[in-house]
Amino acid sequence: MGRVRWSSRLIFIFAAVGSAVGLGNVWRFPYLAGKYGGGAFLIPYVVMLVLMGIPLLMMEFAIGQRMQLGASGSFGKIKHMLSSIGFGAVLCGFVVVSYYAVVMAWSLLYFKFSFNLAWGDQTAKFFTEDVIRLSSSPFESGVIVSSILVALIIVWFLIYFSIWKGIKSVSKVVTLTMPLPIILLVVLVARVVTLPGADDGIAYYLKPNWAAILDPEVWSAAMSQIFFTLSLAFGVMIAYASYQHEESDIAKNAVVISVVNSCISIVAGFAVFATLGYMSVQQNIPVHTLAASGPKLAFIVFPQALSLIPGAPVFAALFFLMLITLGIDSAFSLVEAVTTVVSDKYTHLRREDVSLYVCVFGFLSGVVFTTTAGLYYLDIVDHFITSYGLVFVGLLEVIAVGWIYGAEKLRKYINDVSEIRIGVWWSYLIKYIIPTLLIFLLATSLYSDLKTPYEDYPRSVILVMGWGVLLMVALISYAMAHFSKPKKR
Ligand code: ALA
Repeated sequence: MGRVRWSSRLIFIFAAVGSAVGLGNVWRFPYLAGKYGGGAFLIPYVVMLVLMGIPLLMMEFAIGQRMQLGASGSFGKIKHMLSSIGFGAVLCGFVVVSYYAVVMAWSLLYFKFSFNLAWGDQTAKFFTEDVIRLSSSPFESGVIVSSILVALIIVWFLIYFSIWKGIKSVSKVVTLTMPLPIILLVVLVARVVTLPGADDGIAYYLKPNWAAILDPEVWSAAMSQIFFTLSLAFGVMIAYASYQHEESDIAKNAVVISVVNSCISIVAGFAVFATLGYMSVQQNIPVHTLAASGPKLAFIVFPQALSLIPGAPVFAALFFLMLITLGIDSAFSLVEAVTTVVSDKYTHLRREDVSLYVCVFGFLSGVVFTTTAGLYYLDIVDHFITSYGLVFVGLLEVIAVGWIYGAEKLRKYINDVSEIRIGVWWSYLIKYIIPTLLIFLLATSLYSDLKTPYEDYPRSVILVMGWGVLLMVALISYAMAHFSKPKKR
């Protein structure tokens, strides 16, 4: 039986955009822009998108489509031991989805809380004490928060039923989960930009601080954001492209998907900063003290700001519904990258069963983040996987393609099937520029983490949840490649 296929080019684009557009666009990008020079941040961001993001997306699409296999099979076809790169990629994705689903579980709870604005006016206390019941230190864990566990089970049901038949079900689900959050975002933006003070927030977001672009930290922040936001080095884009026909377009798809994703990030920035501007006027607090990222923005600052808007319950519910629908297609794409690798290898297994095993395992791995110390663990694991795991996998991918498979050979293939022709510059980027940038990124992260422990967490916790998780991913990836038999050609 031949490989299953996306029903159309549009559906493939929907699925890839759905994977790219996620929580990262709403809570990571606007914060980075606010923190690193406002409008000036757009320069490193766009430069990195063009120099690194789009070329890497083309590379991942090309590898998956050429080899017609998921991440490990694709790299394994180049040279057997290189399959460990693919295993590393999907394992990083698997670790990310184990906590990403927990964030979605919080969003689900907050969707319910929206109807009566259950957080009251003490949103920080409500989040830390009532919802996640955060312990006083990462050493005190042990208790699972039952409401989060139940919400997590629901989230994993949603993920399972989105991917249970592989891309056959994904094709149907993305027709809803890709456009819906974008529509919700547009509704929210339209509402919040008219609020008093919104202009101040937007001015803060866009006002360029040119000095910032000389700071290397800004460039590394832009680079890691590009990786996360385009779902690069997770094996997702390789898996999705492997369900395309071998002669499908690559270059144009990659450009369209990257541009749509970045536009959505920029629009999300308007929603976030207009709301913060409004809150700053209402409560007489400067915008920069309100700007936050991650859980703090979504579950503390935003509920507080949304409560002030006339018609608050409706807009709060829309916001959390947007987070859930934004997150779901990124989450299931990460799972799909894993199930593709498993199904490629064990072709006799039914797709429904593979999806079930992976989802159950993903759920179980996420339980640790539902404990009272879960937020600490989530924060550390997220930092280490995104700063090192993805970047290292990305580095190995470009070395494998650029130096072993041959960048020129892949470029020729891309040009044979694409409407837009890409020049020899692409091969230079893959062979020289991108590896250099990624080594710089790894070095700057390592330097700052060795200088001061991340967020001042105790060193022992960082050792286990940060370096320990990375080491485990590396060892498992290596062992899986080492102990699996090379495919006969
Ligand atoms: N690309 C996904 C996001 O930005 C993982 O959330």
